[in-house]
Amino acid sequence: MKNKSIAALMRSYLKLKGLPLRPALSFDDVQIINNISDINSRSDIKNLRTRLARNFFLNIPIVSANMDTVTDARMAIALARLGGLGFIHQFFPLEERIRQVMEVKRADNALIERPVCIGHWETLGKTKEVMKKYGISSILLTDDHNYLYGIITSRDYRFKDDDSLPVEKVMTKMPLITAYVTISRKEAENLMEKHKIEKLPIIDHDGRLVALISAKGILKEKEFPNAVRDKKGRLVVGAALRLNADYMKEAEKLLAAGADVLLLDTARAGSTRVGEAVKNIKVKFKDAILVVGNIDTPEEVEFLAEAGADCVKIGIGPGAACKTQEETGVGLPQLYAIATCVAIAKELGIYAIADGGIRNGACLSKALVAGADAVMIGSLFAGTEESPGITFRKGNQLWKHYRGSASLEHQLDRIKSGSLDEVRNPEGESGVIPYAGSVHSVIEGLLGGLRSSMSYVGARDLEEYWKSGKFMWRTNAGKEEGKPRI
Ligand code: XMP
Repeated sequence: MKNKSIAALMRSYLKLKGLPLRPALSFDDVQIINNISDINSRSDIKNLRTRLARNFFLNIPIVSANMDTVTDARMAIALARLGGLGFIHQFFPLEERIRQVMEVKRADNALIERPVCIGHWETLGKTKEVMKKYGISSILLTDDHNYLYGIITSRDYRFKDDDSLPVEKVMTKMPLITAYVTISRKEAENLMEKHKIEKLPIIDHDGRLVALISAKGILKEKEFPNAVRDKKGRLVVGAALRLNADYMKEAEKLLAAGADVLLLDTARAGSTRVGEAVKNIKVKFKDAILVVGNIDTPEEVEFLAEAGADCVKIGIGPGAACKTQEETGVGLPQLYAIATCVAIAKELGIYAIADGGIRNGACLSKALVAGADAVMIGSLFAGTEESPGITFRKGNQLWKHYRGSASLEHQLDRIKSGSLDEVRNPEGESGVIPYAGSVHSVIEGLLGGLRSSMSYVGARDLEEYWKSGKFMWRTNAGKEEGKPRI
């Protein structure tokens, strides 16, 4: 695609959306125009399905930021259950990222292939350690050849303080209730109900352990019908790669652990180095879904699409903890960046995540009308129960920590852990934000605004919303008028 056609595509897309070419506007500068339609209530809007790649769908257009105060396995599990996606951040060492991915893959999983096991000769202390490491409340005991010896659950050792005890003395020994690989889901449910068991080990015809069916997993599948699951029924999860490390090895290991989407995330993805990395990853891992960011111009979209990116992440400095725009003078208003990048992404058949600056349902709605396929959220999720880090009280309020990935505080921690050599110009802030309860309620609030906005526009799904949604520039007087005054 020639520069000239980029300019033409950009101009016609902005015009279609009711946006000017100059000046570059952002969320608060515009309002979405209402349409007459036959949608009588927002409860008519049930479908918020979107996609991040040709063959990768989400049930809500929301992903959580790959930041150390936002997404680890717990947040990723919560997001996938609700229909979105969490990206495990790149600041964990690779081994820990793999473990986090595996934790998501094991959660809510009715059928666990290759369950975590421990040798029947181990001590109770070692058993507890492994269970803690994998966040599981029971574990199967096997021998070197994968023959089942027994099972131990946390209930079995509640009152046992002596960690040097052989686990065999505490476990429930064989014969356990087991089933062959050929058992159907319904038969497994009946068997578990009949014997009042939580876990059903699945064995092959030689008697070797191959899988585990979990009652909790079956119930979770029923509890979260909007969850996004992979082909094996496991929750989906994204994982970030480190550009400065051996990203090929990281990609290989994270995919093997079950990551559904890889994210190559750097402050400036429009560099030849990132282009090379994208090509290398997509040549070796053809089927891997790769999101690349961040960028804010259509030329960068073309550059990354040609390199092989499935999805681009748009946003240079609009985030709540960002200082990039202030420090460098670079970074375009986010609504303009989304619209101009999407104009090219849609032409080239790739997808777009709008990253940063989502403060409420209005920003989410405007990002989607501008053409983003999903938004990435940091600060709104950092205050929730599911984000990493402690909740603390100061005065009458509960708080959590939130920090930019390029903040001084984060860089100093990375130097301590050996993942960074020297402090670079800090382009992020760190601070505290109010505790916000469960991420479920934050997402429901955002989606309430979105569904209402879709009903005003007259759209039953996000494709219709994008096609029918148009903006009108508003003045400062208009902005003031739109604010509550009581
Ligand atoms: P929100 O507004 O949701 O934005 O908190 C989250 C996004 O902010 C970006 N981010 C940074 N940008 N300096 C920056 O300029 C930083 O230190 C920084 N840390 C995070 C990132 O894209 C994230 O998803």
